[in-house]
Amino acid sequence: MKLSSVLIAVLAELSVVYGQDCDAEAPEPIPPPGPDGRYTISAPGIKAQFIPYGATLTNLFVKDKNGKDVDVVLGYDDVAYYPKDPGHPVYNSIPGRYVSRIGKGTYTIDGKVYKTELNDGENTLHSGTNNWSFRFWNVTALSADSITFGISDASNSSLGMIGRVDASVTYSLKNSTWRIQMTAVSPDNKTPVMLTQHTYFNLDAYKNPATPLVWNHTLYAPYSKRYLEANQGAVPTGKILTADPGTINDFASDPAQLLGHARSDPKFQGNCGADGACEGYNGYWLIDDAPKHAVVASLSSAFSGIKADLRTDQPGVVFYSCSWMDGSAPVKSTQGLNSTTQKVVKSSCIAIEAQDYPDGINHPEWNRTSHQILGPGQTYKWDSSWTFGLL
Ligand SMILES: *[C@@H]1O[C@H](CO)[C@@H](O)[C@H](O)[C@H]1NC(C)=O
Ligand SMILES: *[C@@H]1O[C@H](CO)[C@@H](O)[C@H](O)[C@H]1NC(C)=O
Ligand SMILES: *[C@@H]1O[C@H](CO)[C@@H](O)[C@H](O)[C@H]1NC(C)=O
Ligand SMILES: *[C@@H]1O[C@H](CO)[C@@H](O)[C@H](O)[C@H]1NC(C)=O
Ligand SMILES: *[C@@H]1O[C@H](CO)[C@@H](O)[C@H](O)[C@H]1NC(C)=O
Ligand SMILES: *[C@@H]1O[C@H](CO)[C@@H](O)[C@H](O)[C@H]1NC(C)=O
Ligand SMILES: *[C@@H]1O[C@H](CO)[C@@H](O)[C@H](O)[C@H]1NC(C)=O
Repeated sequence: MKLSSVLIAVLAELSVVYGQDCDAEAPEPIPPPGPDGRYTISAPGIKAQFIPYGATLTNLFVKDKNGKDVDVVLGYDDVAYYPKDPGHPVYNSIPGRYVSRIGKGTYTIDGKVYKTELNDGENTLHSGTNNWSFRFWNVTALSADSITFGISDASNSSLGMIGRVDASVTYSLKNSTWRIQMTAVSPDNKTPVMLTQHTYFNLDAYKNPATPLVWNHTLYAPYSKRYLEANQGAVPTGKILTADPGTINDFASDPAQLLGHARSDPKFQGNCGADGACEGYNGYWLIDDAPKHAVVASLSSAFSGIKADLRTDQPGVVFYSCSWMDGSAPVKSTQGLNSTTQKVVKSSCIAIEAQDYPDGINHPEWNRTSHQILGPGQTYKWDSSWTFGLL
């Protein structure tokens, strides 16, 4: 370990203990994480573990059809590896302050043009190289079934993002449900703010001897007939398209639709761009006219029998089917048939990210700018939950 990373680890530890609000009555110090470096919370039917780095979920155990606890999310055994991982896939963390891509690294507020860091070809991804998923957050509250992380993001700490933003995420568990609530304020300036929780699932936990791939998972998103057309760099073109029943991007017409239902379609390879290199899905589906508290996406797998139901207050959801996993990362020891040899291969997981329209700050015609630009006196709010059950 480099001295700098030791220092970072020590500082992170100190900020956990002393990073409290000092003007209130002396608050209880937050206890340190467990010996494995994780904070563990639980409720009937569910157990979750977290680390301050990226406010990341490292493990999520739910019951499979045999009543066994199964860890359904991707991650690493060694918590010290998260900051070091060269392939950093933003595993189950909070990217920010503005998720997804900013086309051409440019946006405009009140007539002033801002330039952001180009870290993804000619675009900005997850706000650039100082993104929130790569920072040590503070633990600000902890109980048996809930944990809160906070971050104070200095003005221009990500190139071109002006004004301090203070944000928090609370993860809480109740009766097989994992709830995620975020808030953010920008007291000094107007700035783009758009958040998500970026969890990767494999509901078989890599234990299905027939396949590590997710194509036999079922995905049903009944309110999401419409999706954003994207260019080869995964940046929305501005066009909103409708998926006809049975076509490649249709997850709305049939509750039994497999994620890989269109695998034999010649357009499946290249469906998510990169001039044909991205197979499957990495796009944004709108949620239209969903009743309040409706399940907007249901992911399930017959092998484990596990079903995960998403509810959200967001207007859409990203489905990314892990085309860029290159087979170099190991699976966790809580997963797989043989975790010493199994790797996270291409298309072996799916990230489902509830959020506002990607690059909406550059598309006034979508009417999302008032939701994506945060200024003094306003509070950004984000609320989603995953309920786990059996098929
Ligand atoms: C986020 O920041 C880290 C650290 O600077 C950088 O290595 C990584 O590439 C950034 N993520 C993206 C998506 O650019
Ligand atoms: C954590 O809290 C400390 C003390 O308030 C603060 O200096 C530090 O910037 C905070 N860290 C983050 C990531 O916001
Ligand atoms: C933001 O940071 C960049 C690079 O450090 C600098 O060039 C730019 O002037 C800064 N912008 C503001 C408004 O401070
Ligand atoms: C827990 O959730 C299950 C399934 O959603 C439901 O049937 C049950 O009534 C809930 N139990 C409690 C105590 O809320
Ligand atoms: C996927 O499911 C289908 C039936 O729905 C089955 O025929 C096929 O063998 C499964 N494939 C794998 C790799 O498990
Ligand atoms: C896992 O694979 C390694 C390397 O091939 C082997 O030595 C080990 O015995 C295997 N473990 C199990 C439980 O099969
Ligand atoms: C934005 O608002 C205009 C005017 O109300 C409306 O015509 C248009 O359909 C809206 N666009 C979207 C994408 O909802």
